[in-house]
Amino acid sequence: MTKRFNEEDEILLQPSGRCLHIEASVTACDRENEACAVLVFHDITELRRLENIRKDFVANVSHELRTPLTSIKGYIEALLDGAKDDPGTSTKFLEIILKQSDRLNLILEDLLQLSKIESGQILFKREPLQIQRVIERTLAMIKPLADKKGHRLLSFIARDLPAVLGDEDRLMQVLSNLLDNAVKYTPGNGTITVAAHPVADDLERPTIVTALELSVTDTGLGIPEQDRPRVFERFYRVDKARSREMGGTGLGLAIVKHIVEGLGGRVWVEANAPTGSRFVVRLPIQHINQPV
Ligand SMILES: Nc1ncnc2c1ncn2[C@@H]1O[C@H](COP(=O)(O)OP(=O)(O)O)[C@@H](O)[C@H]1O
Ligand SMILES: [Mg+2]
Repeated sequence: MTKRFNEEDEILLQPSGRCLHIEASVTACDRENEACAVLVFHDITELRRLENIRKDFVANVSHELRTPLTSIKGYIEALLDGAKDDPGTSTKFLEIILKQSDRLNLILEDLLQLSKIESGQILFKREPLQIQRVIERTLAMIKPLADKKGHRLLSFIARDLPAVLGDEDRLMQVLSNLLDNAVKYTPGNGTITVAAHPVADDLERPTIVTALELSVTDTGLGIPEQDRPRVFERFYRVDKARSREMGGTGLGLAIVKHIVEGLGGRVWVEANAPTGSRFVVRLPIQHINQPV
């Protein structure tokens, strides 16, 4: 009979940062005064990375939900402590409570939507559609908000655009999230431009249109270069206080990215000159001989 001893441990290898789980078993050998050891190495770097993402996400969600909840609780306590006896103050406090409850609702709706997209519960249609219609319908939706801040809304849509392969409702959601940000993060009386034009991104066949580019440009605050790649992460904001004050959930661009990539496209942000931002969405087009 051989006697076994089992030990396990985790080690972090530097400088690569790889994480290994090691299982060691010591077994007696057939030969006298000798022992054998079996070491099994499991590379768990990816597992740990995913665990950390999950932990960060849970911590972020809790924090985001707690902020409006703390405010709601605080104002209810103040009302109970006597503020309710003053009609002016109680109306003001109740309005804040209502606003914060709406905010909670928005965060939950956005979170649910993100999780549905990520888990594949939302299937994107891939039907040929005219981007012009998507732009016109979304601009009509956002116009009252833009008017309120005195913004000019312009659109430049190239003629004879090829049909894009997409999902109309989802593309409207992409465009309305980008326009909503442009309206919010541009001080009053700015200019917001939506443009669409064909692109030929195959270097070997520069005359053949392969995609369509949709852009939303504003004359607002702009996004510092180091923050640009990160604004598509969940809950990442350049200025947390400003985003909250504007009623944002910090999830709009994460949703945009998921939808665009789900449709086989790409989205990024550039600086606009002399001020502001330019968000670009590149979408696949319907090729004439491509089955749909
Ligand atoms: N057009 C823009 N101009 C300046 N900053 C922007 C613009 N669009 C997005 N941002 C920045 O990116 C962050 C993330 O955007 P988003 O995911 O839509 O969340 P939010 O709910 O804060 O609008 C915003 O908080 C803001 O800091
Ligand atoms: Mg937003």
